Amino acid sequence: MVEVASLVSLCLDALKKEIIHGHDVLPPVYLLPPELLDALIRCLPPFGLWRLQNELPVEGQQLEGYSIDHLTNKRKRGRDWNIDAAWQLFFKLRWPDLAKQTQPTDWQQAYWETHLQNCLDEAAEMALVPSFKGCIGDVQIPEAILNHVGIFGHPDHSSFDHAKLSYHCQQFGCHARCLTLQNILCTAETSNLLRECKLQKLILRCTRSKEQIDGLCKLLTQHSKTLSSLEFVHCSLSSDFVNAICGALVLNGVQRHGLQHFSINSSSFPESGTISLPSGLVSFLSSGRSLCSLKFSDNNLGRTFARALFLTLLDLSSNTSILDLSDNHIAGWLSDFKRGPLSDSHLSFGIGKSLQLLRVLNLRGNHLRKDDVESLRYALTQMPNLEDLDLSENPIEDEGIMSLIPFFDKAYESCSSLAKLRLENCELSCDGVSHFLHAIPTFEGRLKSLSVADNFLGSEVAGALAKCMDTSIKALNVEGIGLGPTGFKRLQDLMKGELELVKINISKNRGGIETAIFLTKLFPLAPQLTEVNASLNLMPRECLTTICDALRLARGNLEHLDLSGHSWECEPDHASLHAEFLRNGKNILILPSSSALVAPYDDDP
Ligand SMILES: *[C@@H]1O[C@H](CO)[C@@H](O)[C@H](O)[C@H]1NC(C)=O
Ligand SMILES: *[C@@H]1O[C@H](CO)[C@@H](O)[C@H](O)[C@H]1NC(C)=O
Ligand SMILES: *[C@@H]1O[C@H](CO)[C@@H](O)[C@H](O)[C@H]1NC(C)=O
Ligand SMILES: *[C@@H]1O[C@H](CO)[C@@H](O)[C@H](O)[C@H]1NC(C)=O
Repeated sequence: MVEVASLVSLCLDALKKEIIHGHDVLPPVYLLPPELLDALIRCLPPFGLWRLQNELPVEGQQLEGYSIDHLTNKRKRGRDWNIDAAWQLFFKLRWPDLAKQTQPTDWQQAYWETHLQNCLDEAAEMALVPSFKGCIGDVQIPEAILNHVGIFGHPDHSSFDHAKLSYHCQQFGCHARCLTLQNILCTAETSNLLRECKLQKLILRCTRSKEQIDGLCKLLTQHSKTLSSLEFVHCSLSSDFVNAICGALVLNGVQRHGLQHFSINSSSFPESGTISLPSGLVSFLSSGRSLCSLKFSDNNLGRTFARALFLTLLDLSSNTSILDLSDNHIAGWLSDFKRGPLSDSHLSFGIGKSLQLLRVLNLRGNHLRKDDVESLRYALTQMPNLEDLDLSENPIEDEGIMSLIPFFDKAYESCSSLAKLRLENCELSCDGVSHFLHAIPTFEGRLKSLSVADNFLGSEVAGALAKCMDTSIKALNVEGIGLGPTGFKRLQDLMKGELELVKINISKNRGGIETAIFLTKLFPLAPQLTEVNASLNLMPRECLTTICDALRLARGNLEHLDLSGHSWECEPDHASLHAEFLRNGKNILILPSSSALVAPYDDDP
């Protein structure tokens, strides 16, 4: 039997068409009884709902979560309907993966922002074709995107400009706070197209030419009031370009800019070998009261640039709290600090100055050597509140780690706040690390998190490690240090009292069965333990039983136990283990080749 459409559904269908194609939403629509209005809202595509919300006739009235009761002209809470939920659903249907990663406060805003980003990316792709001529604003948005939104071909094609990029920028631009622009979009035309946006965050990719920088500067000036985050990725920035960009943000050197995050990443500075920083960058740094994060990662920076940057920040007593110089080539950048900056006559910088608010310093992957650590130790006295230092991937060797020890000494000029130290893959040996670990108890509980992963330390380090675990350290990463069965065995023998450990990473240590026995000893001793990574340890299948028995007994706070990277068959009992070991509805165990089971997607039922 053919189902007969009800009169109501026929009417709703007609209304829907009218809302999408009509010139205006007819005011009586808003006067529909709540049930009908709700039903109408439910059948509209994003574009329709947007129009319905956007063209609400009475000023101050909102549809948000309410239905309108025309008799009392008061808004009544919709029983089971909420417009934000509708936008969330639209978002999930269109970008399921992205929806899992974001939790916006306003789903409509997120929807149109992401939509506009899609449109801009499509336009950039088309504009990149060498034969492209004409205005970017006239680029036709692909039909697949229009279908998502619910913009369908208009019966009268000649007046149909809804398919053009310019229409989408005009209509939905006001929702965009964060956009990524490809170089080809850095033009004066784009700044015109994006004038409705209230940009807070802008990411520029592959900007390289003078023309693009000129276009970008227009955009920056236009949005300088709202922008709080600016990132450059894969760009090439000559001093002139940097000056122009900074100038666009700091008008006449008078106005203070409101940027909080500034990042130049995987880019190049063709003139970074010269002695001083581009003057624009200096005035940019000095006029940013709120600039709290500064990242120059992977730009092939040399020591000259790094040194000039550091001394400039110091000289300004900058308020920056995060400084990232990772993956450059800055060995020697602090050589002036060897005897302390004060003793060096040609340096007027840094006297009595400090980076009071600096909390995080990332120097990973910079070819730093032991001399650099020595100098750094002096420089660190000018960062009295540094909490997090990453020196990983630098060949600092044992002497490097040893020269950090005095820094933690109470007698040292400034009392260190350093709580987190990463020294991964630093060509350290058992000797240097053992010395350091033995000294930790004298740091009086300041060091909370330490990583010495990926240094070949061998089983001998176990003695010092056990001592370190017995301090107030909370997170320890000893992945890939070659503990082996002997190392784990020694740890088992040496662990006695209660531990404060919260996280430990012992993966890639080839511990075999001893790894499991170590864990059975660890669980009851460390009641606060929440995260353990014991993957890739050559454990045979029986270990799983041993570990699970220990878990049942301990019943601690464990949230994650990574046992992946073992050649255990994915057996039927894995499913029952997953079901047994749950915390807050999530699996505790990460088992081999069961990645599909590992991270259950916590969706609404
Ligand atoms: C550099 O930019 C890329 C792309 O935006 C990003 O994935 C990466 O995390 C950035 N790296 C740093 C150190 O900010
Ligand atoms: C750092 O912040 C303080 C307090 O907000 C302000 O007075 C000072 O000018 C700032 N320093 C810089 C270099 O912006
Ligand atoms: C080591 O384990 C910790 C958690 O226990 C985790 O945060 C970290 O990412 C792990 N290291 C690597 C390289 O995966
Ligand atoms: C555990 O360590 C392995 C090896 O480095 C890594 O691949 C895995 O992501 C880590 N697990 C967690 C949960 O961080």
